[in-house]
Amino acid sequence: MEKINILIADDIDLSYLDLFPKTNYNIIFKHGLNNQSILNFDKRIDCLIIRSTRIIDKKFLDNCSIKIIATCSRGVDNIDTDYAKLKNIKIINSSGTNSISAAEHTFGLILEVFKRISLSDKIIRKGNFEYTEFERRELYGKKIGIIGVGKVGSHVAKLSLAFGMKIFANDTDVNVKKIHNNLNFKPLSYLLKHSDIITLHIPLNKENRKYISKEKLNLFNKDSVFINTSRGGVVDEKHLIKILKAGKIKFAALDVFEHEPDINPEFLKLNNVILTNHIAGKTSESRVKMAKDIFLQIKEHLHFSKNPKLYFKI
Ligand SMILES: NC(=O)c1ccc[n+]([C@@H]2O[C@H](COP(=O)([O-])OP(=O)(O)OC[C@H]3O[C@@H](n4cnc5c(N)ncnc54)[C@H](O)[C@@H]3O)[C@@H](O)[C@H]2O)c1
Repeated sequence: MEKINILIADDIDLSYLDLFPKTNYNIIFKHGLNNQSILNFDKRIDCLIIRSTRIIDKKFLDNCSIKIIATCSRGVDNIDTDYAKLKNIKIINSSGTNSISAAEHTFGLILEVFKRISLSDKIIRKGNFEYTEFERRELYGKKIGIIGVGKVGSHVAKLSLAFGMKIFANDTDVNVKKIHNNLNFKPLSYLLKHSDIITLHIPLNKENRKYISKEKLNLFNKDSVFINTSRGGVVDEKHLIKILKAGKIKFAALDVFEHEPDINPEFLKLNNVILTNHIAGKTSESRVKMAKDIFLQIKEHLHFSKNPKLYFKI
């Protein structure tokens, strides 16, 4: 039987590579190949495994004969999924394998804003022991507005309850409200006006591009803290910078940006922001879980296509 060629083009965890027995699969590991080199590859590639930093656009999809593209990420906003569907290319992503990491990072950012741990570290390294110049606050009793109560958002809710916080939840899916009937669901405008912390956990898709618009940002109260570990593209960043500069919002802590890695340089000039470089979901544990999940999904997809080789001829 002809082997299935899988090209791993990005740096992913390989602990579970033996899920692909050598008798049936040819695994080619070429970390860092650019898209053109993938298209020019001398072997026929049946399945391509990538990470979220690689952009898969119409041009790439038009020129490839790959039948499965698997991304080791939760989001698929790096891939033109509508066009892939038209071209009968299966897109595989991972759901839930990095949500605990992302929720914990969200809390890391919240704690950083409320406790100023890294600022205190900087002060002590300068030989200073001064603590009156910066404020620290308790999380207990604070109102946290969680927009998007999916895998990440629901874990953020659990952590918030453990800290004794009051939750305002919001989700566009009515079923989510039924599942999490212990949470206090509120209309978005109420949540934005009344939360001490607003944290975003929605996907970037056509409907959600700049969803947190100028109008919505203007509803935040001036003492509120904004946290975003979802995707930068769901926020009007320019207006966020404007209200941070004007003190119309207290603080923002961001892991994700509209343009990565070339983020808006205005963020760097602000001292009421904390920035991390899209690491929320990237931990040692999630890296292993995510690659394993992707490998299993690829195998399952091939299995259900019964004869993988026939499938690839479609
Ligand atoms: N920074 C990171 O490293 C990292 C890691 C993991 C996930 N993420 C991102 O976090 C986000 C959430 O991931 P998830 O796994 O929880 O997704 P999910 O699909 O499990 O949950 C998303 C929830 O948002 C809701 N939703 C969608 N649009 C909405 C809107 N406009 N208003 C209110 N609710 C809305 C959906 O109904 C769903 O319940 C995604 O953007 C994902 O890409 C980032």
